[in-house]
Amino acid sequence: MKLGPLFLENNLILAPMLQVSTAPFRRFCRKFGNIGLVCVPMLYTKRIETHSRSVLRYLHKIEEERPVSVQLIGSDLDALKSSIDFLESYQFDVLDINAGCPSRRAIKAEEGGYLLKNLDVLETLLKASVKYSSRPVSLKIRTGFNNTNNIEKIADIVNRSGIDFLTIHGRTVKDRYLDSTLDLNTIKKIKSLVKIPVVGNGNIYGGLTAKKFLELTNVDAIMIGRASMGNPEIFQHISQCFSRGIESKHETSFSKARKYLKLYEECVDEFLDDTIDMPFSHEKFKLMELRRNAIWFTKNIEGAISLRTRISKTRNLEELRNLITSN
Ligand SMILES: Cc1cc2nc3c(=O)[nH]c(=O)nc-3n(C[C@H](O)[C@H](O)[C@H](O)COP(=O)(O)O)c2cc1C
Repeated sequence: MKLGPLFLENNLILAPMLQVSTAPFRRFCRKFGNIGLVCVPMLYTKRIETHSRSVLRYLHKIEEERPVSVQLIGSDLDALKSSIDFLESYQFDVLDINAGCPSRRAIKAEEGGYLLKNLDVLETLLKASVKYSSRPVSLKIRTGFNNTNNIEKIADIVNRSGIDFLTIHGRTVKDRYLDSTLDLNTIKKIKSLVKIPVVGNGNIYGGLTAKKFLELTNVDAIMIGRASMGNPEIFQHISQCFSRGIESKHETSFSKARKYLKLYEECVDEFLDDTIDMPFSHEKFKLMELRRNAIWFTKNIEGAISLRTRISKTRNLEELRNLITSN
């Protein structure tokens, strides 16, 4: 499919998720089926400007993941420009600007979701991104800050800015992740107002929710976040549901968890190859990655609640492997 200037294998996108959709995670999910686009989670422009070495690991081998998008968060124009400059030597496909993050840190720094109530700054940042980036530019937003009253103004800015596509998560910043607040009407509204393709996002957990989302909002592509935690097959399941109309159930078992963990470890090792000079602890990185994912892999398995608590307390890889193999 075509998403602005990009040619993607399908209309499914893996969401940027800080400390979740890491490079090994993105590789792992892609082993189970086609994913049109994967996204590197937010990198702080201020950090790139002052300590660019600290972000090197987030960009390591991204050229092997194309098509891939890299997301920046920040509200300072100079930091944005120097971050774009810094990224120029990397090979990736889209520069994404974060205007949706609801974290306290982001709101305090007047960046991320805060930009939805600081629309002049948002417009300046978008125009600068389009001007200075040699790659296509996208914007990721929520439906508004406290409410959706600004949606028409946001659409005007999007239309004036020259960006290539828009991603919208169907909640306000204030609503954070509250399940009951998903608002598909505002997604449909902005889709009808902007002249560029729109990616819709929020609470897509399988083929049927994906189909309904597309029908109700008319968006061009969909982005999947939390449903991929522990379920790398979600993208394949959604594609199958689109082609055959049948929803595949995500089955979990200890044997599947063991298989997933082995494959995940291979993805981590592939990623860590040749990173000897990078400024971070490989051992700690690997343990955190495997521990976090092992907890998700054992989600919904009968009797695994205490196992997950034990997994979260493991202090080294051997303990973790023993726990998983002894079940
Ligand atoms: C742990 C976590 C980290 C996230 N990090 C980012 C991020 O770095 N950038 C971003 O734009 N959105 C981030 N998000 C939001 C997701 O990209 C997505 O918009 C949100 O989870 C809703 O989609 P879902 O219902 O499919 O999970 C994050 C979400 C979670 C749960």
